[in-house]
Amino acid sequence: MSEAALPHPDAPAPHQRRVRYAGKNPRRFEDKYKELDPQHHADTVAKVLASGKTPAGTHRPIMVAEILAALVPKPGDLAVDCTLGYGGHAQEILAKILPGGKLLGLDHDPIELPKTESRLRSLGFDETVFTAHRSNFAGLPQVLAGFFSSLASADGESAGVRGADVILADLGVSSMQIDDPARGFSVKFSGPLDMRMNPQRGQSVAALLAKIKADALAHLLSENADEPKAVHLGAALAGKNFTTTHALADAIRAALPYVAKEDAHLHIRRVFQALRIAVNDEFSALDTLLRQLPACLKPGGRVAILTFHSGEDRRVKKSFQSGLWNGIYSAIATEVVRAAAEEQRSNPRSAPAKLRWAIRAA
Ligand SMILES: C[S@@+](CC[C@H](N)C(=O)[O-])C[C@H]1O[C@@H](n2cnc3c(N)ncnc32)[C@H](O)[C@@H]1O
Repeated sequence: MSEAALPHPDAPAPHQRRVRYAGKNPRRFEDKYKELDPQHHADTVAKVLASGKTPAGTHRPIMVAEILAALVPKPGDLAVDCTLGYGGHAQEILAKILPGGKLLGLDHDPIELPKTESRLRSLGFDETVFTAHRSNFAGLPQVLAGFFSSLASADGESAGVRGADVILADLGVSSMQIDDPARGFSVKFSGPLDMRMNPQRGQSVAALLAKIKADALAHLLSENADEPKAVHLGAALAGKNFTTTHALADAIRAALPYVAKEDAHLHIRRVFQALRIAVNDEFSALDTLLRQLPACLKPGGRVAILTFHSGEDRRVKKSFQSGLWNGIYSAIATEVVRAAAEEQRSNPRSAPAKLRWAIRAA
């Protein structure tokens, strides 16, 4: 701005126009949720939390105390968070492993990862203690090897393959992903039918539905979400072009005309879950991680996995049990750990969570 264009110091502050919306209320996600600007709307954030909801653009870490009790992170530990998300668990683990420890955080979401990295940096976790790495956790051994060799070259040592003391995986999607209509995860908002956590890879749900055959879709609905009307819905939805989340939800309702509204909603949720698992290849990433975990842990190292539905929990349970029988793990959770009633009340997203842990044999 040239000097001549500067306002006179005594001039009144320029009038700020109110943001104009097309209708009576804001429609755009960014305009609607004041929590997206927490610095200026701390009171709104507090109100949202008190009502048992998660402020838009954030994620509340689930079962923090139970996870810390299972992982026992201590100063000097090397910790891996396979699913960094908003960094809520990472932040808690970092507080326990400092001084001397390091945390490597993985996430394959290219939209949220940079935001989380800057958030954790702004909390004071610099490059010497926290590394964010964009990757699918199925590639954990390669990411760990690269991490150790960069540590070794920084210290002037030769790279050796060491394991982590602590590994956490908090599966599924974050609240930031679910609540952003542009990502197409939630039936609550109308958005493009996408549901990819990494939109740079694979195909969207819309593309999958457009070309899948009825029997393959029925199989997927049943395998990924135990959907009881899998065959019927498979036939109704396969090969169709749906561009939005609401168009798919409407088609599910239309295919189940005699089903009560609340039950139709359960079918919709299961179909959405099954399709999300499919386009993100979630089960094969989890199976790969479970196979590779023992090699990524130090002897005596601990892993904790938080799952959100039976397909995930079955896999974790089986893998930990067979690891115990084979002597790979010295101890595993005998019972699944659930969120306390108070947490389930204050954060309903914790209600389906199941935690299992294992300790690598020495
Ligand atoms: C439930 S959130 C994790 C929240 C996190 N614990 C926190 O406290 O903020 C799950 C995160 O894992 C990521 N994710 C899911 N599957 C993944 C995979 N196979 N590889 C890497 N990241 C994955 C998602 O993108 C999402 O950000």
